[in-house]
Order: sequence, then C-alpha cells, then structure tokens
Amino acid sequence: MVPRHWRASAAILLLFGMAVYTTALRPLGAQTATAQTVVDAAYAKFKTVTEGKNADYIPALAKVDPNLFGIAVVTVDGRVYTAGDVTTEVSIQSISKVLTMAQVIQEQGLDSIAKRIGVDATGARFNSIIAVEGVRTVVGTGAPEMNPLVNPGAISATSMVTGRTSDDVWKKILGFHNDAAGRTLAVLQDVYKSESDTNQRNQAIGALMRAYGYIKGDWQQAVDLYTRQCSIGVNARDLAMMAAMLAAGGRNAVTGKQLIDAGKVPGILAVMATAGLYDDSGKWLYQTGLPAKSGVGGGILAVSPGKFGIAAVSPPLDEAGNSVRAQRAIAAISEALGGNPYAVRQISN
Ligand code: DON
Repeated sequence: MVPRHWRASAAILLLFGMAVYTTALRPLGAQTATAQTVVDAAYAKFKTVTEGKNADYIPALAKVDPNLFGIAVVTVDGRVYTAGDVTTEVSIQSISKVLTMAQVIQEQGLDSIAKRIGVDATGARFNSIIAVEGVRTVVGTGAPEMNPLVNPGAISATSMVTGRTSDDVWKKILGFHNDAAGRTLAVLQDVYKSESDTNQRNQAIGALMRAYGYIKGDWQQAVDLYTRQCSIGVNARDLAMMAAMLAAGGRNAVTGKQLIDAGKVPGILAVMATAGLYDDSGKWLYQTGLPAKSGVGGGILAVSPGKFGIAAVSPPLDEAGNSVRAQRAIAAISEALGGNPYAVRQISN
C-alpha cells in the first residue's frame, strides 16, 4: 500500500511536470497556430530596415536587389512557414561550407575534419592568410586551430570530398546540397564567373594550404570546386530545409532521406556555433543560442535542434559580413518560438 502523502506528492509532481511541458517543453506542433503569425510579424517588422550593404568584393553580388527579403521556417516534422520572397535565388556562398563539412564527416567520420583542419575559431577574418600562418606554429603539436567554415579550412574540406575526377566530386557536392534542400539546385553562372575572375586571394590560400599539407591533392581543383559550391543558387526555403535537416538529426524533414548519421550532427552544430557568423559568432550565440551559418550572398540559416530550421535571405550585410535583416528576423522568430536550446522558460503560476 502506497502511503497517502506519497500519493499526494506524486500528484503534485505530475501536475508540475504537465505545467513544465505546456509552458516550456511542448513541441512546436502545439504552437502551429502561432508559427505563421510569428513569421509574418517578423517579416513586417524588419522589411523596412535599410541598414547594411551588399557584398561587392565579388562584383556580381553588388548587383543583387538589396530589397529582396524572404524568411522560412521548417519544423522537424516537415511543416513549412514562409513570408516574403522565398523563390528568388541568391548564391549560397559560405553556407555551402556547412554542407561540405557535413559530407566529409559523413563519409570519413568526425575525426577527419577535426584532425586535418580543426574545430577551433581562428579569431581572424574568414579569408585571413595570417590565420593560416598562425596555425602553422601548432601543426604537429595536435589538431590545427582552424575550422572548415573559414576559407582555408573550407577549401581544404572541399579537397577531401572523394571522387575519381573533378566532375565526380562536383556531382557529389551538388547532390548533397540537392538532398539537403529537397530539390534540384543549380549554379548561378554569373556569380561563378564573377568570383572565378576575382578569387586570387582564395587561390593564394589554396596554394598555401597545399604547401602546408592540409590539401593533399590538386589545390587548383579544390579552389575551383569551392568557388562553384559557393555559387549554388538557393532561396530562403531551401536554406530552411537544410537547417531543418540538421535540426532533425541529419534527416531531410520533408523527404525523409537520412543524409548524415544522427550521432555526427552535434559535432557539425558545434562548429557552426563556434564559427558560423564570422567574428560575430560569439555575439550571435549569446543572443540566440542557435548554431548558424551566414553567407556573403545575404543568406543565414540557423538550427534549433529537435525543433526547427530557420533561414532568411536579405543581401545587405553589416560590418562583420552578416545579413542585417536575416539576423534580426531569425533572432526574433526563434525567441518567439522558444528556439534557444540553452533556455528553459520560466514557469508561470
Ligand atoms: O570565398 C569567398 O570569399 C566566398 N565565396 C564566400 C565568403 C563567405 O560567404 C564568407 N564566409 N565565411
């Protein structure tokens, strides 16, 4: 026989548990009535923001319409909420670095990237050559203090995708992006040409990474494939699909295709949390708690693990190189939907 006061305690515990569930831990499904409203409200609030400036060091990016603004949220069970322009494509740019890192990790294991490239913030700009020289001093003493989300690490990660010919490697890289987006994507040829004509700095980085042994094969091929992957055209919905795939443990939330083993996803998210928004990665994580990645084309995707992927596209960037409107929209929507994985909401009476 269970003593009466035990039963009373059990009942109180149960009620407490239900209160926690309904106020803090309930799945996004219970909030669907508000998710579209939240996305619409963020669109309306931030569409008039005019701060920031398109990237122009790749000439084609300066020509993209700065008014373009689209937002998408995809839940881990495949519901899609959008606002604004979610069909016009921008180049994916550095967001592709997440997918290529993920592809290498899926093929070759978590250690492959950690040992060859590293998983530490460099504290330097994404295309810093000084950072490469700095890492040189610790090569041989352990894993390099770099990561696959800055250009030297990303070009090296691209060089690690296996394939008999350059064409085979490219088909795999594009195929992985297609599977993550859940549709067939294509390179924006004007961006690819524009960046190929002006990427002497990345070529220098590729050559250095080859000289220092991070790239084992053809560095020129690696730089070219990297440039091509950065030129893949995506809209906000595509990016949110990619983010939702990571939120859902590596499974495309809409098509159901498993792209990455669930056990490998936390490592990928950790690198995004560390280095996803360039020099402002710490500030972003402090504000939102979301692993994310931005690209100079104006896209940002962010991941609320187990809940949803979210993305926004808006070309004007701030000083750190991150889309102004995309950051604000994602932060506001995630806050409203309880997306911060570090936060436990206060329990009200
Ligand atoms: O290599 C570049 O400069 C561009 N293709 C990508 C830059 C970018 O989005 C910044 N990333 N960390």
